[in-house]
Formats: sequence, C-alpha cells, structure tokens
Amino acid sequence: MHRLCYNIEVPKKESVALEKFLITGGVKLKGEVTISGAKNAAVAILPATLLADGPCVIENVPNISDIAVITRILSDMGAEIRYLDKTTIEINTAGVASHIVPYEMTKQLRASSYFMGAMLGRFGKAKVSLPGGCDLGARPIDQHLKGFSCLGADCTIEHGMVNIEARNLTGSQVYFDCNSVGATINVMMAAVKASGLTVIENAAKEPHVVDMANFLNSMGADIMGAGTDVIKIRGVGRLRGACYSVIPDQIEAGTYMVAAAITRGDVLIRNVIPKHLEPIITKLERIGVCVDQFDESVRVWVPDRRKFECTSIKTMAHPGFPTDMQPQIAALLCLAEGTSIITEGIFDNRFKYADELMRMGADISVDGKVAVIQGVEALTGAPVRATDLRAGAALVLAGLAARGCTEIEDIYHIQRGYEDMEGKLRGLGARIALKRSAVSMVSSAV
Ligand code: EPZ
Repeated sequence: MHRLCYNIEVPKKESVALEKFLITGGVKLKGEVTISGAKNAAVAILPATLLADGPCVIENVPNISDIAVITRILSDMGAEIRYLDKTTIEINTAGVASHIVPYEMTKQLRASSYFMGAMLGRFGKAKVSLPGGCDLGARPIDQHLKGFSCLGADCTIEHGMVNIEARNLTGSQVYFDCNSVGATINVMMAAVKASGLTVIENAAKEPHVVDMANFLNSMGADIMGAGTDVIKIRGVGRLRGACYSVIPDQIEAGTYMVAAAITRGDVLIRNVIPKHLEPIITKLERIGVCVDQFDESVRVWVPDRRKFECTSIKTMAHPGFPTDMQPQIAALLCLAEGTSIITEGIFDNRFKYADELMRMGADISVDGKVAVIQGVEALTGAPVRATDLRAGAALVLAGLAARGCTEIEDIYHIQRGYEDMEGKLRGLGARIALKRSAVSMVSSAV
C-alpha cells in the first residue's frame, strides 16, 4: 500500500474544513526551531523524477499540502509513491505512460507548471492545465512557452490546457525577457534530454534553481552555471534514479527570524544555509535586530529597550531581498519607529495583507507596487483572513506581537507552505491553537 502523503490530506472537494489559528500575542519566543526542506525546491524536484528511468529517493521533503498535491498528481499518473519516513519519499515513475496531467489538482498550485517541462523531457509532449497558486496579480507563463519553443516544441493553449509537442527537442539559445524562477526550472527540465547544447541567458539565480540543477545532475544530467545569469545544459540520452536531499527553506527560516524579532525574543534557528539568508539578515540588522551566524544555524535576538528602525525595501530576484519575505518584513516594520517604504519589484499585487494588518491597528497606505508604513506603538489582536501563503504568515507574525487575541481564517493558504507552523511556534512558547470546524459545501441550486 503506497501512502500518498504522511499525514496531510489534500482538502476534500465535498467539504471545506474551516480551520483557524487562534493566537494570543505578547509572548517573547525563546528556544530552538528546525527548518524544513524548501517548498519551492521540493515542488520542482518531485515532478522532475518523471525524467528518471529508475526510482528516486528524495529526502528533507517538507510535510505541507502543496507536496501532498504534487504526490497525488504523480500517483494519479501512475507513479509509485512510498513514504520511507515523514520527510523521505521514494518515487518510481517507470509506470507513468500518459503525458496528460489531471486538471482538478493542477489548478491548485503554481508548481503544476513544472509538469510541462518534466513531461516534455520525458515524452516529448505534455498536456497540462494552466497553473493556479497564490493570487499575486498576473502570473503568465509566456517565458516558459518561449523557452519550450526555442527547443523546437509547438505550444498552444486550448480550453485552459497547455498543449506542448516536439518531434525532436533540440538544444538552443534561450534568452528570457524577465527573470523567471519557474521558466528557468522548466526549460532546464526540458533541455536535459534535448539533443545538443542549450544556453539559458537571464536565468533566475534563486537557491532552489541551483538545487534543481544539482538534483538533475545527480541523475546524470550535464548542467553548468546554475546560480548565475547563464546556465548551459548539454542534453543526455537518459537520466537514472538518484537519492537527493532538498535544501532548507530560506523563506521559512526568514519567517521564523522575523517571529523572533517581532516578539523581541531569542531564538536559535537550525538547519539553514546562512548564505541563502544574507539579504534577509542585512535588512533585519538594519532594523535593529541582532543575528549571530553559525555553520548551519542563526540566532536571532533583540536587545532590551532596542527600538526598531524604519527602512526602505525593494524586493528583487535573488540575491536581492526576496518577494516571498515581503509581507513578513512588513509586519515587523509596522512596529518600527518612523516611516518605512516597501516597493514590490516582482508581482503586481502582493499587498493584499495590508487591509488585514490595518484591522490590527497598522498604519499602511498602498499605491500600486509601493506601501508606505508608519510605525505604531503596538498592534492589537483582531479577526483577520489569510489572503495567500506569505500574507497569512505575516498575519501570524503580527498576531504573535499584538496585544490580545488574533483569529486567522483561511489558514489552508499557510498550510500550503509551512510545515506544522502552530507546533513549531508552540515549541518556542507561542500561545497558538488550531480551531477546526468543518462545513459541507452546499451545492448551489443554480
Ligand atoms: C516562484 O514563482 C515561486 N513559486 C514564488 O513563491 C516566488 O515568489 C517567485 O518564484 C519569485 O521568486 C514557486 O517556486 C512554486 P517567476 P514563479 O516566474 O516561478 C513574471 C511563495 O510564496 N513572469 O519567477 O511563478 C511573473 O508574472 C511563492 O512561495 C512572466 O511575466 O515566479 C512575475 O512578475 C509565491 N512570464 C515575475 O516574472 C513568465 O512566463 C517572477 O515570476 C513567468 C513569470
């Protein structure tokens, strides 16, 4: 019997489990927390096992609902999935014969787009529904399709499905018009089996792009330059199964760093790669937070009576300040003295959390891609709603610091990308509980 996922269920269609976090703020977080594997690496590496002609063992896989969806899709396609322990998965995709990826699941997450590159590399064709994921404004896939076309594939979109077919995938020059993590990873997957040399220019340099290249190389691919603007991929005839460990999640780590800072606590954050945290550390220290770096951990603490300083932040592609940390640092800046400016350099609409923070007494005004934050003395607990994954994380952080009780709805967004957040925070002394009430969806008469 192959367990599909360890203990996270993919939300069932017929009933929506209304889960909420209840947080009573004011506790200084103390102690140690261990970071899980990187969501944005794992959601790419698991589909990439389709490229292997033998079983793969992937370690340090985060126990989150996005992974449950990915493993469910792979299983529905005929892959054999076996959990060897809570974070280690054995995947054998030899039994996958179809190049079509089921619709219902793929629409739930952005990472479903990775099945395009993996199937193209495996079968020379793919039929995948347009991806879903956090609503952060326009999230086109034109650069993905541009890259596939450069490799000789025909790409069409009909009835919400992306149809990609290539008689022969042939290595080529691919120049991205914008820095795209997804397009870089997707074209890498298609190119590893293309004949000849592919050169990707203006490639994304995020740690999870490098992790993906390392995984593909562990299967026998020939990829050089990942982590720089130019990635060279020499196609190979076959890729073998491999055993690989996912890197730690830099964004989860950054989130707990802000949790320690915003509660003026003292926390040791284990299983990190400090180099991946540099842009976050720089900004936290500028705000007045102390960060001690060790080989695989960081200690985050705030001296007594230290006031947080306002600052300006512009989110950029790596190694700039990561957009996925923008809502979290905004929550901290709500309590900094003076006026802070946040410019969102990646997505069109990543300030939806601002209205929710204002219900807690924050002073934020948003104009397009710029938020102006006037620091306030304190936040107060309130009923709020998670609008997306990182927005939800920001509301948790604000709740930890706020006076009184905060109730956060729609936490399924948070559970997509954070493993056992309430358990990890409770382990640091936070007063957080999960409140669960299920209602069945009443199918409308019309
Ligand atoms: C990945 O999304 C991450 N998701 C996002 O994390 C992250 O915010 C983003 O990279 C940037 O780092 C996953 O890895 C599953 P992009 P992705 O392609 O690949 C535009 C989280 O919170 N663009 O780098 O979709 C796009 O609209 C999530 O963990 C095109 O115009 O991001 C955006 O403005 C949220 N055409 C910018 O590029 C394309 O074909 C960056 O997008 C592709 C992207």
